[in-house]
Amino acid sequence: MKHLMSPLDFTAEELDRLFDLANDIEKNPGKYAHACDGRILATCFYEPSTRTRLSFESAMIRLGGQVMGFADASSSSATKGESVSDTIRIISCYADICAMRHPKEGAPMVAAEKSGIPVINAGDGGHQHPTQTLTDLLTIRSLKGRLGNFTIGLCGDLKFGRTVHSLINALTRYEGIRFIFISPEELRVPDYITDALKEKGIPYEEVIRLETVMPRLDLLYMTRVQRERFFNEEDYVRLKDFYILNADKMMLAKKDMLVLHPLPRVNEISVEVDDDPRAAYFRQALYGVYVRMALILTLLEIQLP
Ligand code: CP
Repeated sequence: MKHLMSPLDFTAEELDRLFDLANDIEKNPGKYAHACDGRILATCFYEPSTRTRLSFESAMIRLGGQVMGFADASSSSATKGESVSDTIRIISCYADICAMRHPKEGAPMVAAEKSGIPVINAGDGGHQHPTQTLTDLLTIRSLKGRLGNFTIGLCGDLKFGRTVHSLINALTRYEGIRFIFISPEELRVPDYITDALKEKGIPYEEVIRLETVMPRLDLLYMTRVQRERFFNEEDYVRLKDFYILNADKMMLAKKDMLVLHPLPRVNEISVEVDDDPRAAYFRQALYGVYVRMALILTLLEIQLP
């Protein structure tokens, strides 16, 4: 049985097959409308979510399956002290596949070890968010036509941002990637990530000002400064509006640069940017449904004739 804990759980070839399947689902949704008849997805979310939980539920419903779960730990028996290991044993009796989000790093992995069904890490603390990364990669591949040979700027909270950590991890497998990390000093990308890039000989730069690097970027991945990861409110208030992408800054960018964002956004992208054809973040959310449909089919080993 296969679980998904990290984007690197799939080989590059397996990812290509997954993305081909997602693109086919996008083009021929009717072909897949009953692929999961009689199957149940459990969504166990110990942390808030809009996109990840609802896109998983939308994915399973569009495949003909059904969904159940909890959107808040306070409405589960976690409040009575039940462990994730015990919870997943129970969920394994009720469902065929489970997507789990948890504030503790590694919790979905602990669940997978005791699970009788495939477990998908839907985000664990500041660690990984592999299905967001699959979404990001599918978006880039679909809109740019390739997954290599570009300069990507990652901007905002690079310290706590699990989407950023997962995406960097996944992109290191492709040729010709150059990273530009744009963050305030306090939110720099962790050393273990830059150490891994050095070891693999992958070029990266760390800068503070977004404007200075805008003209060089093929992709700009904006992120939110996450209030929930800060230990003190004062630091959050000081850093939350450090970057605001607006129409003036977009004028510095290439004509075909894409702006991605895992969402939710707060102030880091002005709404005036939403109408710019280079703003891809809402299309990105839609790709998240197709890729989660493809992932459910792949982990359940469902193949259509
Ligand atoms: N991108 C993302 O993980 O959004 P949610 O927190 O709303 O699921």
